[in-house]
Amino acid sequence: MMQSTSLHVAIIMDGNGRWASRRGLPRTAGHHAGARAVRRVVEAAAAQGVGALTLYAFSSDNWRRPAAEVAALMRLFTRHLRSETARLVEAGVRLSVVGRRDRLPAALTAAIRAAEQSTAGGTALHLRLAVDYSARDAIRTAMLLPFAGALLPDVDLLIRTGGEQRLSDFLLWETAYAELVFIDTMWPDFGADDLATAIAAFHSRERRFGGLPSQAAG
Ligand code: FPP
Repeated sequence: MMQSTSLHVAIIMDGNGRWASRRGLPRTAGHHAGARAVRRVVEAAAAQGVGALTLYAFSSDNWRRPAAEVAALMRLFTRHLRSETARLVEAGVRLSVVGRRDRLPAALTAAIRAAEQSTAGGTALHLRLAVDYSARDAIRTAMLLPFAGALLPDVDLLIRTGGEQRLSDFLLWETAYAELVFIDTMWPDFGADDLATAIAAFHSRERRFGGLPSQAAG
């Protein structure tokens, strides 16, 4: 169903590793399944009234993971950007990557630049991938370099999959008034129906922004 509003939805995509372990698969198999979930959700988002979708793909703390897993993730991001760009252009999706770029492999930064350039004209959905992202770093950057654009528009709805209930240094500033939805579903199992359920929960909540019920629309 097409909604009249254009929502900014942000997702902490957690649970790839556990999804894989439960199946006796290596963690990287979970990340590959997670990439397929990203594709499903991007395809479903615009039709569900989402104007901007920000996905937490790699936090600045994820560098602490074993080098082999980090390398596999970087390769997956690079391949995914290259292979999805045509599909994104076709669907009118504009892709941006937020976070630090100076620590990423050169092949990934090149793929990011190419995907951002190719999709710059998209108006159906603004997809942001957060890679080597830290909200605290973004806030510090915004204080020191106010025109660097480190802060994003306010988030309306933040979803975290995988059962944990924390923000893990994601969009701390932008979620000041976001509605929070935590679900147990592991990210590789997340689909269009789960997105619709979370958006329905969002619409059923009364957002008052600190005012009284009668002022909710403000
Ligand atoms: C969290 O699961 C997921 C990540 C750290 C990586 C996110 C990557 C993807 C969803 C795959 C590809 C994404 C793109 C944009 C192509 P976890 O490994 O922390 O799972 P666990 O908590 O069960 O260990």
